[in-house]
Amino acid sequence: MIRISNTSSAFLTVLSFCLVSNMSSAQDVRENGNLVPAEGWQNVQENCTECHSSLLITQNSGSKSVWESRIRWMQETQGLDQLDPELEESILNYLATNYGQKDSSRRVPLKSFLLPKNPYGRID
Ligand code: HEC
Repeated sequence: MIRISNTSSAFLTVLSFCLVSNMSSAQDVRENGNLVPAEGWQNVQENCTECHSSLLITQNSGSKSVWESRIRWMQETQGLDQLDPELEESILNYLATNYGQKDSSRRVPLKSFLLPKNPYGRID
């Protein structure tokens, strides 16, 4: 007969709790991919993650017309089906709201007097 001491049974309880809680958090992550869980995310999950991961979507940004041009491009060249107009509208609104055009992240160029001397410049 296998005897399980109190310590090991406590260990097993903690271990199984960890496994179960890990499983459920893995499920949560899978459920909405990494899409912002705002209105309409399920439409994106259902229609936009069949061919590629949602990461390809969330790492992009753009105005509604930019998102629309991406959808047209996929329809014309990548086999994306036509979407029902209401569904497409909901997807576009979701994307433009949650993954809208980002501001430029480039810094303003330094003024020339703040730059080091150009060694190839004219020596006056
Ligand atoms: C029929 C397959 C298919 C479906 C469904 C699909 N896509 Fe794509 N999508 C592609 C392919 C193929 C690429 C190119 C992948 C690559 O470059 O690795 C792509 C690329 C993209 C890109 C990257 C574009 C770029 O400029 O780099 C975005 C954003 C995107 N898809 C969003 C979506 C959205 C939003 C939906 C839902 C409306 C969707 N996709 C549904 C096939 C699909």
